[in-house]
Amino acid sequence: MARLEVIEGDITRLDVDAIVNAANESLLGGGGVDGAIHRAAGPELLAECRTLGGCPTGEARITRGYRLKSRHVIHTVGPVWRGGHANEPELLAGCYRSSLALTERHKLASLAFPAISTGVYGYPKQAAAEIAIREVQARADALDRIIFCCFDTLTADLYRMLLTARSASRS
Ligand code: AR6
Repeated sequence: MARLEVIEGDITRLDVDAIVNAANESLLGGGGVDGAIHRAAGPELLAECRTLGGCPTGEARITRGYRLKSRHVIHTVGPVWRGGHANEPELLAGCYRSSLALTERHKLASLAFPAISTGVYGYPKQAAAEIAIREVQARADALDRIIFCCFDTLTADLYRMLLTARSASRS
């Protein structure tokens, strides 16, 4: 089982095998974490993304990391929150599953996730964090280290609280 860590800060600074990008279906950049990753990686990242032909919601694609410390970027597309009855939980779970499947295929040992869909896409933070933790814990065997990279203290505290509650309920 991989070590699960909560880090508060900027995902673009992490030295890992891959960071996950909360992208949109075009994979051609945007705001939030997507904008930060493209700025830090440089224009070569956009050039490689242009060759991918987009990505459906709930799936993931992998590129190199270019000027990032991270060797790769896994681009996944979270669902826009539409009230919870448009398959959002299953689509969000698909982002975590597809990203982890890519790490296995490419034999990556360390991975960092942002809180996918919880910014512009409006997914409620606690419900999203519960899905993130559940999916990662179920599939973390092949990796050494998985980081939940939270951009603010409230989100980091939420992940820490949910991870503690889960490990208490398991013991
Ligand atoms: N490092 C870590 N987390 C970050 C960073 C960062 N540098 N910057 C923001 N976050 P969002 P979404 C957090 O809006 O909701 C883009 O335009 C942020 O606080 O980036 O999936 C895409 O192109 C929040 O908790 O992604 C899409 O169009 C989380 O990352 C759309 O936004 C996700 O917020 C995707 O929306």
